[in-house]
Amino acid sequence: MKKILVVGAGGQIGSELVVYLRSIYGNGNVVAVDLHPSEALAADGPFELLDALDAERYAEIVRKYGVDSIFNLAALLSAKGEAKPTLAWKINIGALTNSLEIARQYGCALFTPSSIGAFGGDFPRDNTPQDTIMQPNTMYGVCKVTGELLSNYYHTRFGVDTRSVRFPGIISNVTLPGGGTTDYAVEIYYAAVKGERFVCPVSENVYMDMMYMPDALRATVELMEADPSKLKHRNSFNIASMSFTPEIIYAEIRKRLPDFEMVYEIDPVKEAIAESWPNKLDDTCAREEWGWKPQWDLSSMTDDMLRAIRAKNL
Ligand code: SER
Repeated sequence: MKKILVVGAGGQIGSELVVYLRSIYGNGNVVAVDLHPSEALAADGPFELLDALDAERYAEIVRKYGVDSIFNLAALLSAKGEAKPTLAWKINIGALTNSLEIARQYGCALFTPSSIGAFGGDFPRDNTPQDTIMQPNTMYGVCKVTGELLSNYYHTRFGVDTRSVRFPGIISNVTLPGGGTTDYAVEIYYAAVKGERFVCPVSENVYMDMMYMPDALRATVELMEADPSKLKHRNSFNIASMSFTPEIIYAEIRKRLPDFEMVYEIDPVKEAIAESWPNKLDDTCAREEWGWKPQWDLSSMTDDMLRAIRAKNL
């Protein structure tokens, strides 16, 4: 990867992936593009406005900078996707098909994240295997499975270097996620630091896979730098680092902030989505094929999240 393009750079993952990539590959070699202007992203390196559905302008930016690797992060998340399914399909699949075609035409490697949301139907919820039934019942999941299939198709049919991971819920402290089912696990830390009572939208015993942003960033780059001859899978790898319920993360925060309070007001849409997803992924293939190994667990992440959010002086 020498000239990198990050599409959807202003989002939860993009805003930190750009900084991480620039620290490795050089500020000038990582072009950030987003629908909305961003002073932060433009301050340290190239930034362009782009609607990822505008294929002509997308290709023009790839040509202008001589891009060889694309990270396509433009997407609506799961709960928002249920509120606006046709818009979710339009954006998530539109950005994907433009990215695939441009990667094919200009010989770029392409990373498009998949998700725990790609699972659904009658599959094993515990230690969910790499290769299993994937019949999601959300538009977000339908888009993710389509993305996995299309990315594999472009690899086998056209030789495009497509690679991807199935991200758990990503927990971070720079840019808030928006409209996801796992958002509660970010919001709970903000409430704890602000001394507010947290209203949890999913019920107390629902397990979901989660991951701290530094592990997610490292996974992304390690997969894109992995030796292709070792990859039996491509789109997409299960990766995991921790799995918890609302009660478990609440208890972890209460160890540090004993007065913190949480109540439940179940959001039926988020609850149904959470119950249709894995409890815990089996990430053996990622470990074997490209050496994936998480570095953060719930305890170390909780210390770091509370420290980082306190430092914002909200
Ligand atoms: N974090 C996403 C969501 O909740 C899942 O990938 O929609």
